[in-house]
Amino acid sequence: MPLARVALVGCGKVAQVHVAALRSLPDVELVAACDALPDRAASFAAAHGVRPFTEVPTMLREAKPQAVIIGTPHPRHAEPAVQAAEAGVHVLVEKPLAANLADCDAMLAAARKGGVTLGVISQRRFCPAVRRMKEAVDAGKIGTPSLGVFLGYNWRDAAYYQSDPWRGKWDTEGGGVLVNQSPHQLDILLWLMGPAAEVSGYWANVNHPTVEVDDTAVASIRFQSGGLGSIATSVSQKPGIYTKVHIHGSNGASVGVETDRGATFVAGLSGVAAPPLNDLWTIPGEEDRLAAFQAEDRAAFATVDGTSYYHALQFADFFGAIREGRQPVVTGEAGRAVVELFAAIYRSSREGKPVTLG
Ligand SMILES: NC(=O)c1ccc[n+]([C@@H]2O[C@H](COP(=O)([O-])OP(=O)(O)OC[C@H]3O[C@@H](n4cnc5c(N)ncnc54)[C@H](O)[C@@H]3O)[C@@H](O)[C@H]2O)c1
Repeated sequence: MPLARVALVGCGKVAQVHVAALRSLPDVELVAACDALPDRAASFAAAHGVRPFTEVPTMLREAKPQAVIIGTPHPRHAEPAVQAAEAGVHVLVEKPLAANLADCDAMLAAARKGGVTLGVISQRRFCPAVRRMKEAVDAGKIGTPSLGVFLGYNWRDAAYYQSDPWRGKWDTEGGGVLVNQSPHQLDILLWLMGPAAEVSGYWANVNHPTVEVDDTAVASIRFQSGGLGSIATSVSQKPGIYTKVHIHGSNGASVGVETDRGATFVAGLSGVAAPPLNDLWTIPGEEDRLAAFQAEDRAAFATVDGTSYYHALQFADFFGAIREGRQPVVTGEAGRAVVELFAAIYRSSREGKPVTLG
């Protein structure tokens, strides 16, 4: 099978995870790395034996990648994504797809125009515990998903926000806990509950006086299906406690995952220490399977690099989708739905009333 030639845009913290994940894929070759900071591009490229670039168009022209993986700060996702897509290069963007809907729409339009695949990272969708929930929901084992709950009790300290100049500011990060730490679970919630129809929300900054953005947010959702949703997400618990998504069905049965134990990992600074585990499973006749699911997932996790493994699974799906001419599991449209949801929560908080989506 021919190697897929891949380039990275953004050589910061998450790029370390990308390199480790790419290394585990036999049919993918990293050919170039681009960062706006010349020293960072040079040292990263030297460390990984690829060509450094500081401008995306030059990199596309000279290194001729077939796909780019974008790991720049959120408001800086759209420009390189559009440049690559318009040049006929497939694009996989780190979460969230963008910080606003206009950027999402520009990326989706460029991908359509360039005839390329656009995907967004949501690596927790590839955890066995989450896949199991999706299969159970799709098989109708909980009836209709009627209540989806996302709880995230995380911690980020002042040093985290000071680690890069773009963090903690509306202009350069696009938001706080909703935009940075929550897209994974917002995506899982939408994947399992279906599209959101209406949202009411509030955000606050509880204990991060040196940053502008939200460290805590809550929301109530009505989904298009008629199902309801509830979100409480925060980086103000010290220490971080857990992050969970629970889906309750019309037949009374529930399935759930603890996606993260303690605080979520910070790429480049900490790792994923514990596997995502099902923490709730009351499907009739399957109530006793929870312990076996957990044991299976703990055993499998012990054999992999938990920090890059789920990215590698998503990369494999993305490159497989390109080869097979199918959609990736996490599409650009799914990324847009997450951005639409958090943008609606901010707007609802600002305007003091529910916001209709779609
Ligand atoms: N999926 C995950 O679990 C996960 C984990 C961490 C970060 N992320 C996401 O990855 C992205 C980057 O986060 P990070 O922690 O690596 O940030 P970072 O600041 O460590 O790295 C970003 C890099 O992008 C470079 N850059 C900025 N603008 C650029 C441009 N126009 N062209 C080329 N390079 C540019 C910066 O110089 C920097 O080196 C964010 O979207 C973040 O949400 C995802």
